[in-house]
Order: sequence, then structure tokens, then C-alpha cells
Amino acid sequence: MQELSVQAWMQANEQAAAELLPRLGGEQELTLLQGVLTHYPRLLTLSMLHLQPGDTVLDVGTGTGALALDLAWGLAGEGRVMAVDIDAAGLEAARLMAQRLRVPVETVRGDVHDLPFQAGTFDRTVARFLLQHLKDPAKALAEMVRVTRPGGTVAVIDVDDGSLLEDPPPPPKVAALYRAVAKLQAMRGGDRHIGRKLYRLFRSAGLDNVSVVGIPRVQAGTPVDVRTTAVQAYHRRRLELERQALVEAKLLTEATYRAAMRAMDRLACEDRFAYEVEFLTTGTVPDPAKDAN
Ligand SMILES: C[S@@+](CC[C@H](N)C(=O)[O-])C[C@H]1O[C@@H](n2cnc3c(N)ncnc32)[C@H](O)[C@@H]1O
Repeated sequence: MQELSVQAWMQANEQAAAELLPRLGGEQELTLLQGVLTHYPRLLTLSMLHLQPGDTVLDVGTGTGALALDLAWGLAGEGRVMAVDIDAAGLEAARLMAQRLRVPVETVRGDVHDLPFQAGTFDRTVARFLLQHLKDPAKALAEMVRVTRPGGTVAVIDVDDGSLLEDPPPPPKVAALYRAVAKLQAMRGGDRHIGRKLYRLFRSAGLDNVSVVGIPRVQAGTPVDVRTTAVQAYHRRRLELERQALVEAKLLTEATYRAAMRAMDRLACEDRFAYEVEFLTTGTVPDPAKDAN
């Protein structure tokens, strides 16, 4: 495997994704797109994990492999990366990305609540944007802790809608759309306020050295650059994908959905400030042998 600089790695990712995207649809297409658009902040996870040569790392809920691929790049061939997801189509996209990028990532289908690994298998276990979708995040975290060796690291990255600050505030129609989307996720058992709860979940799971880092996303100005407009296009596509579910759940009518989307499109051209933060939480699995000394 070739060692690439950060810039070359990001570029290679973007190119591999561009080649694969036309072959994907629905959820996998959006997950891959999101992976490309959030690549730079995601790389912070690698420095927080303090990867060591020879590490065995597990990425749970890998989707199309965004973080698993970065981990394999970070280890530069001196370690092992395992990527697990409940969705076979996402895993297949992750496998194809790894193939194109020539990084070693093993993919295994599995459920975070019952991981197909023995206790203490991994040096590091990570999950990005997974816990927000789960009914019982504590159970999932306990399972991540179980498969991580004593002294190993567990890391979770997730969102918190409460961190969103906007000026001027969004029009009521757009605010109602945001609320409807969060409600839909909650009806499916998820929680878009999971970010603030990660510290408590980590402490309750018995993890030591728990630390939380906020990774901000800021928009200040008119979104004229290619990346900001691409992020907006991504959000629009995600909302289109949820249209039917929002209407069926009676969270919005077709008419209010369409009006909110029009208001959102107008907002996308405005000179404004928006800030939100995702939380990267890490902790160490207690090591009884070490603690006894
Ligand atoms: C928003 S995606 C995040 C993907 C990836 N971690 C990333 O950062 O791009 C959430 C992923 O969690 C997976 N997932 C949901 N429930 C799961 C479960 N119980 N066990 C394993 N994976 C699960 C979904 O299939 C999906 O791929």
C-alpha cells in the first residue's frame, strides 16, 4: 500500500467516491456523499485515537466505510481494520471503496448489539453517527466495550441538534421541517440529542479517561464555495429521501413539505451565520491488571 499525504488521501477518496456514486442509490449513495463532504473534520478522530502500528481497529455501523478507510490509511498497512454494519449494501460499497483506494479493510455483517467477536479482540473500537439511530445506545456501547481489550480505546462521534445556532433564525416553515425530521428519527427509536449524553453513557459503561471534543461546522456568509453548496445539495437530497416517510407519519402534509423545501432553497442563498457541533467522545477500557499495581 502506498503512503499518501492527507491532501492526496482526501483527493483519492473523492475520486473513488465519484466513480462509485453512479452505481449506488438511496441510503448508500447519501452515506458515501456525506463521507466525502465531512472528510476533513473526520480525520480528527485519528489523532484522538492515538493509533499504534499493529493496532486492530473495529468500526461499527461503518456505512460505506468512511472512517474504516481513514483508519486503514492511518495505519499505513501496519494493523488491521474491521468494518461492521447491519446493512449488506453499505458494506459492499465499503469493500469497493477499499479496493479502489488499495487499503486493507475487512467487512463483516453484524449488529452492534451482538457483535460477532470474542471479548477483548480489538485495541480500538469506534462508531460514527451510529448511536443516534439506536433505541438502546447504552447496550450498543456495552457491546463495543466488551470487544475492546482492557486498556484499549472506545470512541463515538455523534451529533446534537441542540448545538445548532443560526442568525437570523430560520423561517418557521424550515424550523418545522427540521423538527419533523428529528421527530421521524425519534419515532424510529433514534435520538438527535445523543451528543450531550455521550459523556454520561461512557461513564456509566465504566470507561476511564473519558474526554469529549466538539468538532464545529460553521457557515458565515453566502454559500458561494463549491463545498458549502455541495453540503446543501446533500441535505436537500436527504430530505427528499424522507419526504414520503414524513408525510406517511403525518408529521407534515405534502403541501407543507413543499413550502418548507422552497423556503429552505431561498435560505440557501442568504448571507447568514450557522454553527453546529458534533461530539467526539473517547474512553479507555479499565485494565484490572494495571489498576492493581
Ligand atoms: C448514518 S450511517 C453512518 C455510517 C458511517 N459510520 C459514517 O460515518 O459515514 C449509520 C449506519 O449505521 C448502521 N446501523 C444501524 N443500526 C445498526 C446496528 N444495529 N448494527 C450495526 N449497524 C447499524 C446503518 O446501516 C448505517 O450504515
